[in-house]
Amino acid sequence: MLSTSARRYLMCPPTFFDVQYAINPWMRLGERVDPARACKQWTALKTTLEALGHHVEEMSPQPGLPDLVFAANGGIVIGAKAMAPAFRFSERAAETPFYADALKQRGYERVAAPHNLNEGEGDFLLVGSTILAGSGFRSDELAAAEVGAYFGLAVVSLTLADPRFYHLDTALSVLDSNTIAYLPEAFDPASRGVLRDLFPKAILAEDADARKLGLNLVSDGANVVMSAEAPGLARAVGERGYQVHPIEFDEFRKAGGGIKCCVLSLHDAPAGEAASWA
Ligand code: ARG
Repeated sequence: MLSTSARRYLMCPPTFFDVQYAINPWMRLGERVDPARACKQWTALKTTLEALGHHVEEMSPQPGLPDLVFAANGGIVIGAKAMAPAFRFSERAAETPFYADALKQRGYERVAAPHNLNEGEGDFLLVGSTILAGSGFRSDELAAAEVGAYFGLAVVSLTLADPRFYHLDTALSVLDSNTIAYLPEAFDPASRGVLRDLFPKAILAEDADARKLGLNLVSDGANVVMSAEAPGLARAVGERGYQVHPIEFDEFRKAGGGIKCCVLSLHDAPAGEAASWA
């Protein structure tokens, strides 16, 4: 049995979730969102995380901000340090203060404003005490060094190459402090080489699962909450000893989002780093 401890997450209810503009290949203007279905799927995600013993902080949804539900883009939080996002598209820019305020209200006194385009945990994923930084579509490649310096952690830059997988968390999942799953073809050749060297035992996902946003999952190191539509990936994850918790989450794919997109991890400081963070 893999072991885990309680995690803290920030989520935003999908009250105003909709497709009102198209800023990624999944979004189609005129697409109808089913609000009841979105609410049911989002609530199932929240209650699944809570049933696993985790704590979910709920921030307030805002009219006119249909993508605010994708809280993973709301920043990067590790230990006592937090960084707000800086969105590439003007359509999402107005979300930033709501995420920053939600973090401040939860005790993060200083929420740094980045100088470079930075879409939060959508593109910056913590694995152990290393941050994997994605760029190519949303966050700027210069953001990687800025994030590493701010958090005082090593950063590995990765370049995304397939517009369907425009955020790092759509192409790569963190399963525990040294295990990842990813779709190799979503990265440029140099990044593929970097990932192969750093994570020789990674689970390599297939396009059929990735295109259901199966990699966009939440793991606590033992339990993996993931799309019910990615059976190949679910099998591979299960074979590694994780407990898979499949849920339906297709309503959010109309906006290019999945399970992980709706969850911002409020990470503890990585083990061994706590002292220098005090
Ligand atoms: N419609 C949103 C966008 O294009 C979806 C964000 C998905 N978030 C994520 N962490 N991948 O920005």
